[in-house]
Amino acid sequence: MLNILVTGADGQLGNSIKRYKDIYPDYNFIFANQSALDITKNDILYDFIKQNSINALINCAAYTAVDAAENDEAKARLINHNGVLNLALAAKETGIKFVHISTDYVFEGRNYKPYTETDGTNPLSVYGKTKLAGENALKNSSLKNSIIIRTSWLYSEFGKNFLKTMLNLAKTKNVLKVVNDQIGTPTYAPDLARAVLEILPLVQNNETQIYHYSNEGVASWYDFAWTIMKEADLPCKIEPVNSGEYKTAAQRPFFSLLDKTKIKNEYGINIPHWRDSLDVCLRNLGIKN
Ligand SMILES: NC(=O)c1ccc[n+]([C@@H]2O[C@H](COP(=O)([O-])OP(=O)(O)OC[C@H]3O[C@@H](n4cnc5c(N)ncnc54)[C@H](OP(=O)(O)O)[C@@H]3O)[C@@H](O)[C@H]2O)c1
Repeated sequence: MLNILVTGADGQLGNSIKRYKDIYPDYNFIFANQSALDITKNDILYDFIKQNSINALINCAAYTAVDAAENDEAKARLINHNGVLNLALAAKETGIKFVHISTDYVFEGRNYKPYTETDGTNPLSVYGKTKLAGENALKNSSLKNSIIIRTSWLYSEFGKNFLKTMLNLAKTKNVLKVVNDQIGTPTYAPDLARAVLEILPLVQNNETQIYHYSNEGVASWYDFAWTIMKEADLPCKIEPVNSGEYKTAAQRPFFSLLDKTKIKNEYGINIPHWRDSLDVCLRNLGIKN
């Protein structure tokens, strides 16, 4: 039996892991939300891991409000950087596996082909900078049996996300303007959860390895919104705008497609296309039959 600690368990990814908790008979999950285990409080992490005989940690905790982070850098850094460092040190002291989640926003977005794990980073936003600092803290901690999975554009039935925002806005608006010059891939959080749970027992390394995971396919936010309306059979019209016309506090990469060759080759996982996963999510939400 593997005792797996899931931090940030009430977020999208944490809830997605909860969905699959019963299909892995060899896994015993300890789900900890922020009030049960605050990753910024380094004095309690070691004891928590010891007391619960934890063998592996999946860190789903993060400061994820990309625009709010521009005016809240200290808090974003405390969680996304210091919090990860705390977890890495506790994992090292206790000798447990560590799966950490990072973001496509560590990239500047000027590539002409999907980003590989070895491509140079240059985050444009405070959120991206603090997430990169968290990656580096984990890498520099010389922790064995640890991986970082960078993902993109997470959505699910849980919490706040682009899909749910679009569905809510469509209740009161006839037209929505959505940016068509930021290209990436929407990722259904339960697909990422399944991938993490499949990979976990196989993680074995002497130093932290980075992997990229998103759903298959390519989209702009406009494509994603347009497809949501079409598949949900909603009358709301989606109009394309460029990022210059739709100002946000945080700058986002224009191109953040992730190359998933490494994770597919090393772990043999199958990755669904984003359109198929959107279909699953809309059915689960009762929006599609
Ligand atoms: N969402 C995306 O589009 C996206 C894209 C790429 C990568 N990612 C990464 O994917 C991972 C999962 O994202 P998600 O969408 O599941 O995030 P989420 O829904 O925002 O969940 C994050 C969770 O972390 C918790 N948390 C915040 N501070 C904490 C602390 N100090 N200690 C313990 N828990 C804390 C939050 O609790 P409260 O709600 O109580 O604050 C929340 O439940 C994150 O690492 C994120 O950076 C996300």
